[in-house]
Amino acid sequence: MRVVVAGGAGFLGSHLCERLLTDGAEVICLDNFATGRPDNVSNLRTHPRFELGCHDVTNFVHVAGPVDAVLHLASPASPLHYRDLPLETLMAGALGTRNLLGLARAKKARFLLASTSEVYGDPLVHPQTESYWGNVNPVGPRSMYDEAKRYAEALTTAYRITHETNTGIVRIFNTYGPRMRIDDGRAIPAFVAQALRGQPVTVAGDGSQTRSLCYVDDLVDGVLRMLRTDLPGPVNLGNPREMTILELAQLVVELCGTNVPITFVPRPVDDPMVRRPDITLARSQLGWEPRVDLRDGLAVAIAWFADALNLPAQAMAGRPRRSQLVDEAIPAPRRPGQDTVGLVGLRADGAAGSTT
Ligand SMILES: NC(=O)c1ccc[n+]([C@@H]2O[C@H](COP(=O)([O-])OP(=O)(O)OC[C@H]3O[C@@H](n4cnc5c(N)ncnc54)[C@H](O)[C@@H]3O)[C@@H](O)[C@H]2O)c1
Repeated sequence: MRVVVAGGAGFLGSHLCERLLTDGAEVICLDNFATGRPDNVSNLRTHPRFELGCHDVTNFVHVAGPVDAVLHLASPASPLHYRDLPLETLMAGALGTRNLLGLARAKKARFLLASTSEVYGDPLVHPQTESYWGNVNPVGPRSMYDEAKRYAEALTTAYRITHETNTGIVRIFNTYGPRMRIDDGRAIPAFVAQALRGQPVTVAGDGSQTRSLCYVDDLVDGVLRMLRTDLPGPVNLGNPREMTILELAQLVVELCGTNVPITFVPRPVDDPMVRRPDITLARSQLGWEPRVDLRDGLAVAIAWFADALNLPAQAMAGRPRRSQLVDEAIPAPRRPGQDTVGLVGLRADGAAGSTT
């Protein structure tokens, strides 16, 4: 199987590339490094089935040779990033989606859009089911991201209807794990960085707003299950275990073992009050269920952040390492001619393609 992962040098994309290689696929990672980093895929650079192309997907995307699947994750994704890059975010959702759908159509490949729970906005239905249309402010401070994804979903649906492109949409809820950027403003990296540095942990509002947090390996498993089907979606992917932001901050402080105080700062405008996926569809159609316990996943993420910051994670002793959560080992490179087991197809020649 030959897979294009747009946004593959980002947090989620790099984990997807890694897992696809483990599963025997050939991976072409396209990224313009707007918010991702070459470091995220540096461990894959020498892999014979991995290719990295520096490319902005808002420009025409050409990939030589066959392509079996196109995963579109290329978009700024954290509130800090999309507010800094509003036009780039809108164009990634509009032009980027069009170009990658065009590639999938030309190659008769499966296309998968990484959409988001943000399409539900500040939801009036709880938990969020896929049939809920959302409560989004189209001119608010999050609108560049929310509306880009809503447009991307509409365009994906139109390609399926008009061109019979094999498309799928997953709506991803808050996901965490190693390789998140420490400075991207999302709750977990922010809390962990503050706690590890011995600074007060700053909670927005009174901390009663809720989130549901999914460990990255669970999320990747759900995305790849969806990739293997012909289902259109949208399908929610996230962990339905809901907690308040204050509870999350307290847990992070406990796991970091630094005993720092929690302080309160104003809540951002249009910050969703509640967020929890209804994953009935994912359970029934994909047989998917998140498996990683929040404490275990957070412990692994904290250890990774501590390492990245060169700081000690004081409470890590006895906590599981990532390899104990899921089997993440990348097998030894296969020889040309050796069978490679793909996700939805087989490709045995192992030939690397060129990307421009
Ligand atoms: N992480 C989450 O909790 C979450 C939740 C919902 C949806 N998503 C979606 O998943 C995808 C990945 O999110 P992430 O958290 O890994 O963010 P990320 O910022 O780490 O990754 C996004 C990647 O896309 C790249 N990119 C951005 N614009 C591009 C362009 N025009 N051309 C090529 N590459 C481009 C970035 O450089 C980066 O490597 C995004 O589409 C995001 O909307 C993520």
